[in-house]
Amino acid sequence: MIPAETVQRIREAARIEEVVGEFLTLKKRGGSYLACCPFHNEKTPSFHVNPARGIFKCFGCGEAGDSVSFLMKHEHYTYPEALHYLAQKYHIEIEEEKPSEEEQQRQSERDALFHLTEFAQKYFADVLYNDEMGRAVGLSYLHGRGLTDEVIRKFGLGFCKDEWTDFTDHARKNGYSDDVLVKTGLTVVKEETGRAYDRFRARVMFPIFSISGRVLGFSGRVLTKEKQAAKYVNSPESEIYIKSNSLYGLYQARQAISRANKCYLVEGNVDVVSMSMSGVENTVASCGTALTVPQIRLIKRYTPNVTVLYDGDAAGIKATLKAVDLLFAEGMHVRMVLFPDGEDPDSYAQKYGSEQLQQYLAEHEENFLLYRMRLVGEGIKRDPIRKAELENSIIQSIALVPDPLERAAYITQCASLFAVAEQTLTTLVAKRIAQLRSAAHGNTPTPEAVTPAPAEGTASQPSTDSPAPQPTPMTPTASSTISLYERRLVTLLVRYGNEQIPSGRIADLIVSDLKNDELRFDSTLMQQIFDLYDQAIQKGEPLPDANFFARCNDVAMRNMAMGMFIEEYTISNKWKDKHVIIPPPEQRLSQDVVETVLSFKSNKLEQRMRSVDEKLKNCTDEEEMLLLLAEKKALKELHITINNGALHRVIT
Ligand code: CTP
Ligand code: MN
Repeated sequence: MIPAETVQRIREAARIEEVVGEFLTLKKRGGSYLACCPFHNEKTPSFHVNPARGIFKCFGCGEAGDSVSFLMKHEHYTYPEALHYLAQKYHIEIEEEKPSEEEQQRQSERDALFHLTEFAQKYFADVLYNDEMGRAVGLSYLHGRGLTDEVIRKFGLGFCKDEWTDFTDHARKNGYSDDVLVKTGLTVVKEETGRAYDRFRARVMFPIFSISGRVLGFSGRVLTKEKQAAKYVNSPESEIYIKSNSLYGLYQARQAISRANKCYLVEGNVDVVSMSMSGVENTVASCGTALTVPQIRLIKRYTPNVTVLYDGDAAGIKATLKAVDLLFAEGMHVRMVLFPDGEDPDSYAQKYGSEQLQQYLAEHEENFLLYRMRLVGEGIKRDPIRKAELENSIIQSIALVPDPLERAAYITQCASLFAVAEQTLTTLVAKRIAQLRSAAHGNTPTPEAVTPAPAEGTASQPSTDSPAPQPTPMTPTASSTISLYERRLVTLLVRYGNEQIPSGRIADLIVSDLKNDELRFDSTLMQQIFDLYDQAIQKGEPLPDANFFARCNDVAMRNMAMGMFIEEYTISNKWKDKHVIIPPPEQRLSQDVVETVLSFKSNKLEQRMRSVDEKLKNCTDEEEMLLLLAEKKALKELHITINNGALHRVIT
């Protein structure tokens, strides 16, 4: 946590024109500055920077904010990262809660390691161009692979000479200790002899950068084709380098990923460099590991769209399937491009040129699930006995797709591919989602949620001629004690709270409306979630989002909220009975807010009327009875008003 007064100082020190000016070319015009907007495509500048007010605004796309929000939007920094960036720029010291001695020690050790890796990167790059052996061996190898000087410089490639201690000696001369040399892994000390030597000798060096451009470590490739030497040697993990948290090429690719709203994922370092050279700059590789969740989250900062490129051999497909499951689970949109046998992006680009590569990517990009469906379809043709099993695997994948419209599209495709009734698939997918949701709620699935309703709708006998069963309503079975009205209103808050409708931000509208009417939830859990939003609004903080709930320590709350994110938002039978029409929020969010709030209130009113009736029954005092009757009348009138659909202050 950065202390509030430091945040204040940072914000005051930041000059918007200087901050923005680091990234855009600003033209002075009167008291303000103009540039082409980085957030949308334009030829004539409509991006205004106003130094007096410390803000920017684009009159083209409407994007606006201050120095901090500019950095968050443009550089995809988190809030604290943006503050740290500004603090560094304006030499403001951030004394976060005084770090422990141990923490300080660690920090200075990290600094020492970074100091060395950055020194090494410069040295290796220098050797590549300015040393005789570097040029003759390293540079000619890279040129021989078709790489230009421009792209070699862009990725900071280098060469470590084929002498046992060239780099180690150079670093020692410059004052780096053996301790640091060994910790970064640049130098290896043989245990038996105590002799030190360069880990990466005789290799071309691919530095691995953090997203802020610091050198975390290296990947070194041999030049020869001898089988004895490993093709790549990588830095060992250290205080600064954790393989599973880094993506090769992300530093160079991040702006392009953001611009294209898409990230290509390839296997090799050389593929990244080669793709970038061919004009496909939005490409990363996973540092020689199977793709990890932290790596996916790094990509997710810039885009939800990942296109996986791989060659079609069995090992490639298997590795890709694993990666794709993870990508799906993280809510990413996954597409893929299959390369012709024996080609990878690099060899393809070298053989056919950049235009052909770009065209190939555009023409062969396929939705991953559809591709899987096709594979499964072929599998069924070969082995009809496994039909049910294979179809089931597709149903499970479709159920993971978070967006209902996208899901429906898959179902349509799948139905025509397998010649199965769409309704049947819809039912099966709905059941699968119910199962997932029950699991997310931490309950064992109720029989209703897992037992296929009509027998002909089961996975083992999909059939086109039997009457299609009705889709199971997506009402939660696991938390049936919470009233539908309360749950629905909170779901709206959780899923769509941050969205704007014409009358304002949804969370603001719901929270202020309920508070005005002093309405509370019967369910403690629903009230707790509501209170979180209330507090965030009062403090002017960002609203709780999926990330917040995913990390929330309260298990009941976490499960409930995460369930709300994945469950479908459909009309249940109970709503139909009440003749309240609730459209899916994607289509009519605004109306949905009004109607959900009204239904919630209407239900609260009914509760109060019932309790008044109860009291009337037991009432003996005449005066009290009159009061109760008056109350009942007032409640009834309000109830009518509400059910006529007018948004009113209901109970005051
Ligand atoms: N890799 C590794 N260790 C190895 C082989 C591979 O760490 N012994 C990692 C590297 O990060 C490499 C990636 O796996 O970039 C993919 O391997 P490969 O396709 O063999 O490497 P390329 O970078 O494509 O190299 P080249 O085109 O030169 O063969
Ligand atoms: Mn390759």
